[in-house]
Amino acid sequence: MITRPLFTIPDAPKGETVTITFEGQPMVVPDGISVAAALLAGGARDFRSSVVGQAPRAPYCMMGVCFECLVEIDGVPARQSCLMPVRNGMQIKRQIGAPELDDLNVGDHHE
Ligand code: FES
Repeated sequence: MITRPLFTIPDAPKGETVTITFEGQPMVVPDGISVAAALLAGGARDFRSSVVGQAPRAPYCMMGVCFECLVEIDGVPARQSCLMPVRNGMQIKRQIGAPELDDLNVGDHHE
């Protein structure tokens, strides 16, 4: 069952734009908005697959609470796309299941 996002942007606002890539497809999106908003505005509805059952998931809260918006950004998995502002050249991929702990650099704080 696909989670339907509560928020969509029907028309991109005027102004500066940046180019991001989602699943290898370039998208020109408004500068200054979140990755989640940009992907939704570009028509994306499948941001990740759930850990159990691999069901497609999409943003729900748009405020950092539900974690349904996780994506891989520039090779770093499990980023909350609703909290990340777009940046020109960002490479974004769907988050497939749970990331490996090594990919998150968890506990790697040695100087
Ligand atoms: S949409 Fe809920 S945490 Fe990002």
